[in-house]
Amino acid sequence: MSFDKHAAYEQSFSELDALLEGESDAIAMMASMACVLKLNLPTYFWAGFYIYKNGALIVGPYQGTVGCLHIAMGRGVCGTAAQSGETQVVKDVHQFPGHIACDARSQSEMVVPVFDKNNRLIAVFDVDSSELASFDEVDQMHLEKMIHHFFKARELTW
Ligand code: SME
Repeated sequence: MSFDKHAAYEQSFSELDALLEGESDAIAMMASMACVLKLNLPTYFWAGFYIYKNGALIVGPYQGTVGCLHIAMGRGVCGTAAQSGETQVVKDVHQFPGHIACDARSQSEMVVPVFDKNNRLIAVFDVDSSELASFDEVDQMHLEKMIHHFFKARELTW
């Protein structure tokens, strides 16, 4: 798919910055971020958060088709990102051991862990594409920057 990825992320960042000015509610930020990115990035088939709660992940605000509800730590791409604390960029989900197929159309995926100000894991942000190899270091750089700005650099409320 040919579009200006940098421009789409920069546009999303400024829309979110304006929308979330003075906001501290974590759920409001998650819902807004999933929505704005899904609208601006044509590669996004599914975009949303899994919230870290009681030692596991539970689905949070998302845009797209129906997502799985519970994911254990270490399971699938989301559980791997949550456990390792590192972004996972998966060019072909069928090659990822233990990938959880919530929707059979998903072909590539990226998951970024979300930490709060005190470096505690609060969620992961998951994006799926219906095409292979949709995500790369450009997506990673922009999403990590955005997540840092809206979650780690703020005092969050729930
Ligand atoms: N594929 C993910 C599960 C979440 S859905 O794609 C929305 C995984 O392997 O963790």
